[in-house]
Amino acid sequence: MASIEGERPRARIAEARRNRQNLIAAATRAFASEGEQVPLEAIAKDAGVGIGTLYRHFPNREALVEAVYEDSVERLAASANELLAVHSPAEAFRSWMAVFTDWAATKHGMIDTLRALMSSGRVEHGLMRAQLVNIVSLFLSAGAAAGDLRTDVAAEDVAATLAGVLAVAGAPGQRAQAGRMLDIVLNGLRPGGATMNRIDTSKPHPARVYNYYLGGTDNFPADRQVAEQAIEALPAIRTAARENRAFLGRAVRYLAADEGITQFLDLGSGLPTVGNVHEVAQAVLPGARIVYVDNDPIVLEQGRALLAGTPEGRCAYVLADIKDPEYILAHPVTRETLDFGRPVALILAAVLHFLLAEDDPGRIVRTLIDAFPSGSYVVVSHATAEYAPREVGGVGRAYQQGGMRLAMRDADEFARVAFTGLTLVPPGVVPVSEWRREPGTIPPSRAEVSVNGGVARKP
Ligand SMILES: C[S@@+](CC[C@H](N)C(=O)[O-])C[C@H]1O[C@@H](n2cnc3c(N)ncnc32)[C@H](O)[C@@H]1O
Repeated sequence: MASIEGERPRARIAEARRNRQNLIAAATRAFASEGEQVPLEAIAKDAGVGIGTLYRHFPNREALVEAVYEDSVERLAASANELLAVHSPAEAFRSWMAVFTDWAATKHGMIDTLRALMSSGRVEHGLMRAQLVNIVSLFLSAGAAAGDLRTDVAAEDVAATLAGVLAVAGAPGQRAQAGRMLDIVLNGLRPGGATMNRIDTSKPHPARVYNYYLGGTDNFPADRQVAEQAIEALPAIRTAARENRAFLGRAVRYLAADEGITQFLDLGSGLPTVGNVHEVAQAVLPGARIVYVDNDPIVLEQGRALLAGTPEGRCAYVLADIKDPEYILAHPVTRETLDFGRPVALILAAVLHFLLAEDDPGRIVRTLIDAFPSGSYVVVSHATAEYAPREVGGVGRAYQQGGMRLAMRDADEFARVAFTGLTLVPPGVVPVSEWRREPGTIPPSRAEVSVNGGVARKP
């Protein structure tokens, strides 16, 4: 008697568990094929239960979506363990990331809901994020034991990128981009791999060479050697650097004060110095938001100044190569800081000349500006050999000897690369020292400056 009494609730519990699993499986299928707005009745029918049972398990649609999501992530965690049992940690992680992209890519219908959940903070800080961190930690600790993955990487940071992958992988045509983001993650995790995040002070880096010109202290002997050689070729190069910074300040002030631009994406931002973009913009509009991007990890290390803005505004930093604009645009930090529905000013100050023709800098600028609405701006400056061919040629050789290649472009070519399809604001493309210079001050000669600049608006 007692055993029959005990079996009834057990059978009921088992049935409830089965119903819940069936509902989650039916919802997973329905969301993947029809989107998450599919009627709940259809999901209940597919699961073989009534709508009342569905509501007993999931009081609203959001609860069902979350349950589907959690279930998927649990299965992703289980697959991580299975892969680690048969592959080396780095290989297992690569395979797992492929599973993850597939999973994200088939969740078309769920992506909008997930975004909403993430931006509401529920998923971001909830089980999903915690699970991703757990999964990544699992790979990192297995990798550390096998000497296969780096140990100094925070699982949180990797999980943040994976959350970014989620945000893009479901959109049509974005799969390749998600794959590239994952490649960057994996490369960054390999010991001795192509790690952008490793600081190598034995090699000169453009950010630190430039820092030396500006009188900064964030530079090393290798940087100073190139800088001194460049100064020998073009003694006024420090003036050129200061004029470039002054142009940047005037352009940002103009955009904030006269055009009401409140969002800035500063690519190749360099080390913090005087008159950083957020300081200039937030002095005019305290609510201004700035994302700084550079491929020198020292910029982040020294960049606390870049990240401390006004309480109303916001500053953020992304370690990235501008050769991968899709990565920058999809990065969760960029997405969280900038509103892509409102105009943005892209800043590419003294950085495009580090891109050779084969890097197709024109495509990079177009990809970036295409992501933002009409009324957005680009601010660009670019080194040129047209005013002092011999001296600037010597600067190019100094960088080349340090392993950095420069592509000087004259004003016409620069305008083609940077401003095609955009409307230049007066005075157009001119030496940076002459762009809306404060009246009553005398600019240095064009040969001394040898950097052209311009600002253009997206029609
Ligand atoms: C000459 S500094 C200019 C800094 C600042 N934009 C300015 O105008 O004062 C060039 C900056 O571009 C960065 N940079 C060069 N190539 C880059 C790339 N491929 N991706 C991201 N940053 C890059 C360097 O690290 C450096 O900080």
